[in-house]
Amino acid sequence: MKQTLDTFFKPKSIAVVGASKNTTKIGHAALKNILISDYICNLYPINPKEKEILGLKCYKKIADIPEQLDLVLVSVPAPFVPQIVKDCVASNVKNAIIISSGFSEVGDHKAEEAIKKIIGTAPLRILGPNTMGYKNASDGLDASFAFSTPRKGNLALISQSGALSIGMIYLANNEFVGLSKIVGVGNKLDIDDDDLIDYFSQDPETKVIGLYIEGVKNGRDFMNSIKACPKPVLVVKSGRSTAGARATASHTGSMAGSDKIYGAAIKQAGGIRCRDIVELFDMARALAGQPPAQGNRIGIITNGGGLGIMLTDACEQNGLNIPKLSAPTYKKIDKILPDLIKPNNPVDLVADAGFYRYEACTKALLEDPNIDGVIMASVHGGYARPKEFTGAILKMIRQQKLHEEYKKPILATWVGGREFEDLVLDLKAAGVPIYPSSWRTARSMLALYLEGERIKREKNE
Ligand code: ACO
Repeated sequence: MKQTLDTFFKPKSIAVVGASKNTTKIGHAALKNILISDYICNLYPINPKEKEILGLKCYKKIADIPEQLDLVLVSVPAPFVPQIVKDCVASNVKNAIIISSGFSEVGDHKAEEAIKKIIGTAPLRILGPNTMGYKNASDGLDASFAFSTPRKGNLALISQSGALSIGMIYLANNEFVGLSKIVGVGNKLDIDDDDLIDYFSQDPETKVIGLYIEGVKNGRDFMNSIKACPKPVLVVKSGRSTAGARATASHTGSMAGSDKIYGAAIKQAGGIRCRDIVELFDMARALAGQPPAQGNRIGIITNGGGLGIMLTDACEQNGLNIPKLSAPTYKKIDKILPDLIKPNNPVDLVADAGFYRYEACTKALLEDPNIDGVIMASVHGGYARPKEFTGAILKMIRQQKLHEEYKKPILATWVGGREFEDLVLDLKAAGVPIYPSSWRTARSMLALYLEGERIKREKNE
């Protein structure tokens, strides 16, 4: 029976084996990250040569630590790792993160098999080897050697690529996408994607789960975990092309497998496959802040006809419908539009549309029982200030919470430059799903529709 990951993510006692005074070493960075975390725990550096590191008493070996350890970070060269794992088992350590590289990712599978034998039936759980560790933004603990600090939020990220996981933190911060946890799984000797999906399924701080994978070790467990998860699971699976699959083998030693089989399996399990990490963040922002769409009928509001058509194409290409307006909605919108303009879907508010037209038309669409979600679009055509558009969105989403009242998602998209971008940053900071492309907006609406369908299936099972 595998131990749960509670003590892994919320350890009361942590040791760093290979902690160093040398500020250029990974063992120094890992110790410092934990030390400066806004997190309460007992912290022990382990290094046979030192008496003290960063003001903390240093120990020669794990057995010398005066309490049972919940977590040990290992940052010593690969040949020394098996002995450290033996020490962990002997001292009943609950969890270990093996940062060290030099295992199956360079073709040395025997060393990992040897470590598995050492663990045997001991309850020790292991992350890695070849991992950056994890950052638990919900509780303020940084158990990694990487510098970046995620904003606190609701997306749990699992990444098979260490460097990419660090880059993803910077990108998420830039995009105002908050994380609950981010874990670099490395070579997945023990703790695997399915263990983490199971944990995040129950984690109250996590609303959406995102994965970057190159290959999975146990396809059935992976699928079962996604299927059992009551939250949306977004998956970027790389190695789609022949050359990409070759690159996968030399990066993490994974078999990329048939892309079609992966795609079908993820879909069948109820996961959503994303093309890349930007799409993963787009979809995560929508899923974390907006309700799922109850159907695929979308209403579009724009002040620029061309943008409305591009959105319509992108929605239809992604299996969403842009239905004709019902008679009552037509009447309501007809009263709002200038005299010569007739309502349609997309609703063209024309270039001088200000706050009122956006607000009143969005409400009319939300009230329509034949519309399951609304996309608000604006082109900086020079007639109306972009702030009238962004102000309408903030009023409806942040103040009036119309998406919650009508249980329908509202997404936004824009075309413009600096003046617009500054205002968009305010929206992103407020958690509003707004995107600079019609395709990205349509894909995010698709994610909300797929989540709605998943929930319906879950209720019927
Ligand atoms: N117990 C405790 N301390 C020990 C032990 C031991 N058994 N053996 C050695 N040490 C000490 C060393 O004396 C040293 O301390 P010092 O600086 O005071 O001398 C410290 O532990 C580290 O050992 P080094 O031999 O100096 O190893 P170094 O720090 O250079 O490298 C490391 C170790 C980082 C684990 C390296 O082998 C490695 O694997 N690097 C790659 C890590 C990596 O990238 N992982 C993937 C992350 S994901 C990504 O790509 C972002």
